[in-house]
Formats: sequence, structure tokens, C-alpha cells
Amino acid sequence: MSRGTFPDGFVWGVSTSAYQIEGAHTEDGRGPSIWDSFSDAQDACDHYHRYPGDVRLMKDLGLAAYRFSVSWPRVLPEGSGRVNAAGLDYYERLVDELLAAGITPYATLYHWDLPQALEDRGGWPERDTALRFADYARIVHERLGDRVHTWLTLNEPWVAAFLGYGAGVHAPGRRSAADAFRAAHHMLLGHGLAASALRSAGAARVGAVLNFAPVMTPAQVADPARPLSEEDAEAVARIDELTHGQFLEPMLRGRYPERLLKVVESAAGLGHVRDGDLAAIAQPLDLLGVNYYAPSVVRAQPGSPADPAYPGSDGVLFCTVPTAVTAMGWPIVPGALTVLLRRLSREYPDQELMITENGADFADTVTGDGIHDVDRVSFVEEHLRALLAALDEGAKVRGYLLWSLLDCHEWADGYQRKFGIVHVDFATQRRRLKDSALWYRDVVRRNGLGDRRPRRPTLETVAARAKVSRATVSRVVNGDAAVRPEVRESVLRAVKELGYVPNAAARSLAARRTDTVALVLSIPRPDDALTAAVVQYVPSVLEGAGKQITLMLADTSESRRRVVQHVEARLADGVVLLPTDGADPLAERLARTDVPLVLLGRPAIASLVPYVDADNTGGAAAATEHLLRQGRRRIGLICGPTHLVAVQDRMAGHRDALQRAGLLPHVALAEDTPDSGASALTRLLADDRRLDAVLATSDHLAIGALRAASEAGLRVPDDLAVVGFGDIEAAAYTTPPLTTVRTPATDQAMALARLLLSRLEGRHTTPVVLPSRLITRASA
Ligand code: FCB
Repeated sequence: MSRGTFPDGFVWGVSTSAYQIEGAHTEDGRGPSIWDSFSDAQDACDHYHRYPGDVRLMKDLGLAAYRFSVSWPRVLPEGSGRVNAAGLDYYERLVDELLAAGITPYATLYHWDLPQALEDRGGWPERDTALRFADYARIVHERLGDRVHTWLTLNEPWVAAFLGYGAGVHAPGRRSAADAFRAAHHMLLGHGLAASALRSAGAARVGAVLNFAPVMTPAQVADPARPLSEEDAEAVARIDELTHGQFLEPMLRGRYPERLLKVVESAAGLGHVRDGDLAAIAQPLDLLGVNYYAPSVVRAQPGSPADPAYPGSDGVLFCTVPTAVTAMGWPIVPGALTVLLRRLSREYPDQELMITENGADFADTVTGDGIHDVDRVSFVEEHLRALLAALDEGAKVRGYLLWSLLDCHEWADGYQRKFGIVHVDFATQRRRLKDSALWYRDVVRRNGLGDRRPRRPTLETVAARAKVSRATVSRVVNGDAAVRPEVRESVLRAVKELGYVPNAAARSLAARRTDTVALVLSIPRPDDALTAAVVQYVPSVLEGAGKQITLMLADTSESRRRVVQHVEARLADGVVLLPTDGADPLAERLARTDVPLVLLGRPAIASLVPYVDADNTGGAAAATEHLLRQGRRRIGLICGPTHLVAVQDRMAGHRDALQRAGLLPHVALAEDTPDSGASALTRLLADDRRLDAVLATSDHLAIGALRAASEAGLRVPDDLAVVGFGDIEAAAYTTPPLTTVRTPATDQAMALARLLLSRLEGRHTTPVVLPSRLITRASA
């Protein structure tokens, strides 16, 4: 088995859920669910109509099992009472199609889409919902029980209870620790009642699916055996109980962890836990479904406030870790899966397990000859190796269901997330197999890993496709400004089509390691919040990963020369450079050294040097749309130095938003100072006395504009709305306080550090663009 082969009879398949793929939300009598009210999955993947094609895809991939979920509001539009036969007809058609294709159906009864009618009656915090769930389970089993033999009651009750009722980031969006604990208990009770109803109706196998995020400290991510301080051990245990013990212990042992009960009691009382509940919950389980994506990384931090998703977590800090991450930002730690399975096997030795979800979100590029999702393939492969290690030690894991078959609607994150091994074009509903699907088909066929991996395209492949020399590709990839724009464009097109990832990192790592990273400030701005955050957080993340930091200034020609020499002499494994204002020749120079480089701010010349930036375009568009929504039509733009890429992006976002409203921009140029902002506003007003709003590309400019407005006798916001950009500290203290656009500086700094670490591991070269948010205060 250790040679990469799985046990005989190991079950391979995929998982999906109703709300995420079905669409057809108002068809054939389906009632509304809490997710319809909370987000909009529109037609999703239209699986409701396209299931025959999707089943054919699974058959072609050789899959033995398909885990889908039944939508409660399709079966019981009001949550209870009237049964919608047409809803059950649909699942019957789906199950028949699966069986005809030789695929075993695994039905999940609750994957988060509670009927809105039940939420209106109080939702999961009400005990009655648990009873209604058992009725619903019985009704579905009555129709499908002769053909579906494996029944899974709940999917990830922790997520549904604590993100839905505690943190409010999932439907139904409540923020109450008491409601979250009550919801969790009633979900458990619903599970127990449903499991026993299914069992007495003759169901062959009954199980439940939990989310597992092994809790560890940052140091344990690198070394799971690392001993913990007493404080850290306590922090880890507390989060582990909230996430895992709260569900595992009642389900498998009929009890709540003692310490957890105290937390529940202080948040919600214990009135909702009635005598007999725990016995009802602890039904024997034929299968425990394990969903694993990433660990939770925490440490003790006295004074940290509780995270609303983990009531009672005061004094625990959730940490970002210096590892490679998926596009979702989830750390990639395959070894944690082995640790988890080992632990479950030790604590619940008789329990049969199945990996019911595991997979990854990475941005995909559709090319003329396929979708080369090498990152997704490595992710799954590494996790399958981790699973093999656990199987070798005797873990009773009966199968692996990959999340997910299709790109689909990812809850709070909408459609931007790509977890599918099959690409879905949402405009046409066309399905295309990604390389990961083909690779998975081979794994399934040989019931093992084998050693064939899709090869990464090389510099030569790109050169051949773009019909240029290898040297030219290398110059474009490194952002050399001297390459003609047409040539640059055709190389970048080939790079995109082939999904090429430059391998500089791997080469320089193989050559030599110094365990040192250079943090280079090309324009020292110590008073700037972003620079301050970078200087504070980048070293702390990198030091956590065992790197030493050399801080270098590059503000004179002499100091720039020294930086280049330092990097060329390979005295650093990687370089973080900031900020990159305009066409910074230093960035281009450093990019040519083969030492992994990451930039803060989008570079002016398109290159493959990865960077972190705020969504300046989106932020300016949101600010402009905000003004338009208020009925402002004569909107001016005070524009800072236009050689700065960030300023160009802000201008573009503003212009596009105006254009969509059929308006033209009205711009005054300025330096980035309050005085200059004041005089720019005076000029705008001289041109148009009836100007009713102004957006500035920085808060400094906006502060000047506020001053000039008051000098001109205008009332803000009644006569003139003013919006800034950047959310500097002073923005909250102007008169009136300034509405502005914010992308947290710490997020940018952390992303920058993570990006460099990924580069050092030879991963991730795509830019990271962090969302910008409009902060509305009194000025607009
Ligand atoms: C799990 C959910 C599933 C999907 C994946 C990415 O928590 O069960 O629906 O969203 O995460």
C-alpha cells in the first residue's frame, strides 16, 4: 500500500451540494431557502436540468460514488407539512441516472439550505426545527430508500451554526453566540432523530459529515510534534472543543465535553439541552464523513477578544501562517490530514471513516489546449499521499470524495471560487474537463497514485508558441521595458494560454540558500501606514518561517546599486520591494537576477513578477457609484500624480463608473498634498459652480478639498459630497469625517509576506489583488 496504491474496494468519487449547483430555485414548486434570501446563486450550474450530462461526466471519469445533497425546500416548500412531489421526482430521476451509470448515490439531507419558512419560525435555535428535520428525513427516505443505501444527515453543523448564527457570515446571518450554541444542539438533536428514523425505516448505512480543521500553533504547522507551552496547549484545546469535541463527543459518546458546557452555559444557558437529548443524539454511525481543507492555526494571546465564530475564544489569536495557501487563502498543510486521521482512529477506533470533502480553490486559465490546473493536481496528490500514510497506520478510511465535480457557487464567496475539476462557463453552461479531472480519472483507474504528473510548460514551450527566442521570453517574463509592446503581448498571451509558471524560484533554491530575505524600501515613507505595516508584519511572518530579514534602503543611486549587487551575489533567497511607483527600473533590474521577487503595488509594465495590490479600480468605482446612488451628477475628480499606477487605476475605476451612468469625468490634477487638493477643488468650482461631489485619489487631497469647500462657503455634504481614498488615520477626524476607500494595510503586508513564501516554494506567481471597501462617514 505504501507504494501509492489504495486498498481494494476503496471508494472514489466527488461531492456537491444542492444550493451550490442546482439552480432552478423557483421551479417545480421549490420553496425559498435561507440562502436564497442571503445570497444569489442564480441558475448556478443548472444541474437541475443538466444532471444527465453531469452524471455522464462522472461515469467517464470512472467514479464509483457521488455525494449530493437533497434540498429540503424542494421537498417541503414550507419546511414541514405539504410535500412537493415534483421535488422528490427530481431526486428520483437523478438517483436512477446515477444507478444506470453504475455510480453509488450518497445522499446528504442537510447541506445548509434551511427552508426560509422554518427560519421565519425561529430556525435552528428553535427545538422544533430538529423535529421537522426528522420528518423530512423520513419523507425523503420513503421515496428513495429502495435505491439510496447511504444516508448522511448533516453537512458540517459547526459551519451552519457558528458561521450562520454566530458570526453572521453565512445564512441566515445572525450574530448571536446564544443562537449559535442552541442551533448547534438542535442540529445534533435533528441528526439523532433523523438517524434513528432512517434506521427504523430500513436504511442500510447512516452517517454524518463534520468539518475538521486540526487545531495547531504556527510552529506545529512546520513540525506537528512540537511541544506546546501550557498556555498554547490550553488555547488549542479550547478551539478544538468548539470545532470538533462539541459534535464528535455527543454523536459518538453521548456527552458534551465538560469545559465546553461551561462556555455554552454562560452564553446560552443550558435550558435547551433536555434530558434524553444526548441519548437521542448518540446513534450508532456506520460512517463518519471527514471534510478536510486546512488546519486552524492559533496561539495564546492574553487580551485577544473572542472571535464571534468561536464564542468563548477570548485570549486566543487566530494566526496567519507562513505556508503556501490556496486562492481562498487557506494554508496548504497535507500532513495535518494524517495527524487528524491518526487522532480519530485512536480516539474512536471502531468508527468507519470516509473523506467526504477535500479539494482546492485556485484561479484557472482556460487555454486553447486545456486547463492546466497543476496547483489543484498537486494539492489533491499531496493530500492523497497524506491519506495513504494514515491508511498504512491502519486508519479505517473507506473512500475519498473530492470537492468538487464542478466550479460552483461558493456560499459567502459567490462564483469567484474555483473548486471544480470540471470548469463551468457560467454564461454558456459549457463544461470542460480540467487537467485535474483527467489526472483524477487515472488515479481512480489504477486505484493509486502512480508517478505521472502533468508536466509544467517550460520557457521553451512558451517561446515556441509565441514564435520568439527563449531569451525574449525570459526578458518579458522578467519585465524588461525594452521589449516591443506587440512582442510582449504575444509572449504574455502564450504564457497565459499555456499556464506557464516561471521556475526562477526553484532554480535559485537549488543553487543556494541563505535563509535571508531582503526587504527593500525604494522610497522611504516611515509615516505612511502601509510602509509601517510592511516593516512590522513582513519580517514577523518571514521570521516565523525561519528567514532572517535584511532591511535595505534604495533611495539614492548608490544605495540602489548596493541592493542590486547584494541580490546578484545571491546574499538573499528572495526580495520584497516596495513601493513600486510607476516604471521603477529597480524592479525590472532585480527581476532579471533569478532571485524570487515580489512587489507591493502593480508594476507599470506587465510582467510575471507577482505583486500585491489593493483593488484601486474597484474601490474608485464603488466610491463613484456611492455618489451616483445619492443622486449626485456633477462629480469632479481630484487626481494625484498620474505617473503612479495606483492613481491611474483609481482614475480608470472612476471613469468607468461614470461612463456606465452616461456621464463624463471632470478632472483637476494635483500633487499629493492638502494644499494642492484645496487649489484643485477651487479650480473645479471655477469651472462648474454647481459641482455637487468630488472624489480625490487620496485622503490628503480630500482633506485639502474639505478646507477649500468650507472657505468657499459650501456645506459638506449638503452642497458638496467629498470622498477620499486610503483611509489614513486623520480621515476619521476631519470636519465632517471623511468617507473614504480602505484596504487594510495589515492585509496587504501579510499577503506580501505569504506571496514571497509561496514564491520561495516555487508556487503562485499570480498577483494578489485585495478588495477595497468604502468606509462611509459624514462627508458623503
Ligand atoms: C465546505 C462545504 C462545501 C464547500 C467547501 C469548499 O465547508 O461543505 O459546501 O463550500 O467547503
